[in-house]
Amino acid sequence: MNKKPSVLLVGATGYLGSFLLKELVNQNFSVKVVVRNPQKLPQVENRPYEVIEGEVTKPSTIKNCCKDVDVVISTVGITRQKDGLTYMDVDYQANVNVLEEAKQSSVKKFIYVSVLKGDKKRDVKICAAKEKFVDELSQSGLDYTIIRPNGFFSDMTDFYQMAKRGRVYLFGDGQGKMNPIHGEDLAEVCVSAIDKSVLEIKVGGPEVLTLNEIAHLAFSALNKKPKITYIPDWIRLAILKLAKTFTSSKTYGPIEFFLTFMGLDNMTAPKHGQHTLEEYFNQGAGANRP
Ligand SMILES: NC(=O)c1ccc[n+]([C@@H]2O[C@H](COP(=O)([O-])OP(=O)(O)OC[C@H]3O[C@@H](n4cnc5c(N)ncnc54)[C@H](OP(=O)(O)O)[C@@H]3O)[C@@H](O)[C@H]2O)c1
Repeated sequence: MNKKPSVLLVGATGYLGSFLLKELVNQNFSVKVVVRNPQKLPQVENRPYEVIEGEVTKPSTIKNCCKDVDVVISTVGITRQKDGLTYMDVDYQANVNVLEEAKQSSVKKFIYVSVLKGDKKRDVKICAAKEKFVDELSQSGLDYTIIRPNGFFSDMTDFYQMAKRGRVYLFGDGQGKMNPIHGEDLAEVCVSAIDKSVLEIKVGGPEVLTLNEIAHLAFSALNKKPKITYIPDWIRLAILKLAKTFTSSKTYGPIEFFLTFMGLDNMTAPKHGQHTLEEYFNQGAGANRP
């Protein structure tokens, strides 16, 4: 690609998407976004980009969204949305709807944000849906890159909120390791994938931390004495079983994802970025979104 590619971003109203939109316009890409609620778009100073109002779950509303687009980046997926839809409806099917548009308009490349170790955890509902889309994308004939990020700083806010309430609950001995990543650092990685011929990028933030260390950082940012309760791992497994039996699949999905990944001893990925969790917690855990 000689001239700067034009990019369609889907998911621009989300945590990662908002940093991606900012990064793309700052790097002077020609950018279009498809959103269902333009009021949720982040503030991007004086830089024009095109907004298409549409629902990625309803193909008729996104017709021709990929016209004149070279690269699609999708961060669309259910995290905390409560629309009554399943991961298969959104993480899989909505992304397929965008992929169909991309194929029709001869888009050159599709960049999709899945999750670290999602391919190893296909028995977890969210991963099953995401990896089914990964399969579809890899067979589409388009160039593609799958981004496999570690947990986002936005998800670490849960530790901060627990610390604010006075006590952090951890499963096992709290020695499980991860390197969570800030949206701004991850946005850089996604944008750099535009002109890289690489099928998969695994990435995490610059610091590997144990869950104990994350809890201590949260208490320290709040100037509170650390109080941590360790919940034996068999209780985590029992909650998983009970939740599967007694909750609807829509309630179970996020519980299953959280409890499965919190039980992994090693959730580390190649390090990238500058932002530290200490700085994020010191800034109030979430206040610095664009
Ligand atoms: N959070 C993590 O720690 C983490 C870690 C690894 C990978 N990921 C994956 O990375 C991606 C981005 O995560 P994020 O934290 O930025 O998520 P987010 O803040 O929830 O953003 C998700 C985006 O998807 C859109 N979306 C969700 N349901 C939709 C629906 N039914 N119809 C239309 N649009 C819909 C949202 O639109 P609205 O704003 O209109 O709801 C939003 O733009 C997700 O696929 C997530 O699974 C997340």
